[in-house]
Amino acid sequence: MFFCNHGASPHCENSNYEHYGPSGNLTDEKGGALFGYTDLYGGYAGGQAEYVRVPYADISPRVIPEEMTDEQVLFLTDIFPTGWSAIDWAQLKGGEVVAIFGSGPVGLMAQKSAWIHGASRVIAIDPLDYRLQKAKDVNYADTLNPHKVDVIEAIREMTDGRGADVCVDAVGFEPERTMMDKVKATINFEKGSMKVLDMAFKAVRRGGTVSIMGVYGSTYDNFPLHRVFDKAITIKQGQAPVLNYIDTLIDLIQDSNVVLDDIISHTLPLHEAARGYELFDKKEDDCVKVVLKP
Ligand SMILES: NC(=O)c1ccc[n+]([C@@H]2O[C@H](COP(=O)([O-])OP(=O)(O)OC[C@H]3O[C@@H](n4cnc5c(N)ncnc54)[C@H](O)[C@@H]3O)[C@@H](O)[C@H]2O)c1
Repeated sequence: MFFCNHGASPHCENSNYEHYGPSGNLTDEKGGALFGYTDLYGGYAGGQAEYVRVPYADISPRVIPEEMTDEQVLFLTDIFPTGWSAIDWAQLKGGEVVAIFGSGPVGLMAQKSAWIHGASRVIAIDPLDYRLQKAKDVNYADTLNPHKVDVIEAIREMTDGRGADVCVDAVGFEPERTMMDKVKATINFEKGSMKVLDMAFKAVRRGGTVSIMGVYGSTYDNFPLHRVFDKAITIKQGQAPVLNYIDTLIDLIQDSNVVLDDIISHTLPLHEAARGYELFDKKEDDCVKVVLKP
């Protein structure tokens, strides 16, 4: 119970008997269990099913008030607490400029969370215009497309040359990659690329915070430790500690202080799950978030 008692439920020492361990090497020693992450994370089947077996059901489920719809609360299970963590970790005092790399479901939730925490400006960065449009329409974010502008320069121009107070990496190890990025990854035995994280370190101001919500799965060569040192950047990273936030977040929805279902682009029956995955993966039909209805 050590980790639960310390507000760190993703590191639960009881739920992932076979592959749990202190090293965090992501091969044989990982953290606590996750639904649908194969045997490496406890062997629990995925949550996208008609029924789900919930281990430790006295801890994580919540009773949802009758009047709330499924769509209103669905994103409490992952993406809203994830976006919320990114901002909570940065300890905003009010008035900060928050730049969020990636405007997928996690980035969109971080944008909503940034406003609630008192940001004065929210900047969304994504190479897909339709996702930037979503960020504008539902979250009133300023937008930057790295195919069209120099994102680092643009963020500095927006902040008197300083850089953003907070940068969030809501992309992770699978950004758009060039052939050179792929060659470099192969030579260095890296999974994907940390190019977005590198941009976040460049775009954040001195003394600022970079919250990393995107997943990374290997070592990365040329990690810019010199920049992190010189700019005195605070880095926070990891699985979102959903249980720490869920009750606060239910209240926010119930009191109409946040709307989450405005990011849903597709609602499909469960038997069309494969098509939903394909739409999301290939980012077709302006797909942002698919909801499956049993
Ligand atoms: N830490 C956690 O607890 C946690 C929880 C859920 C998801 N995640 C991770 O968060 C990340 C984002 O999840 P998602 O569902 O929003 O994924 P997604 O793939 O829908 O979103 C990623 C977005 O990044 C954009 N992107 C690609 N290259 C970019 C670049 N160079 N600059 C800026 N944006 C770029 C893509 O166009 C896309 O819109 C993933 O790595 C996911 O695994 C982490």
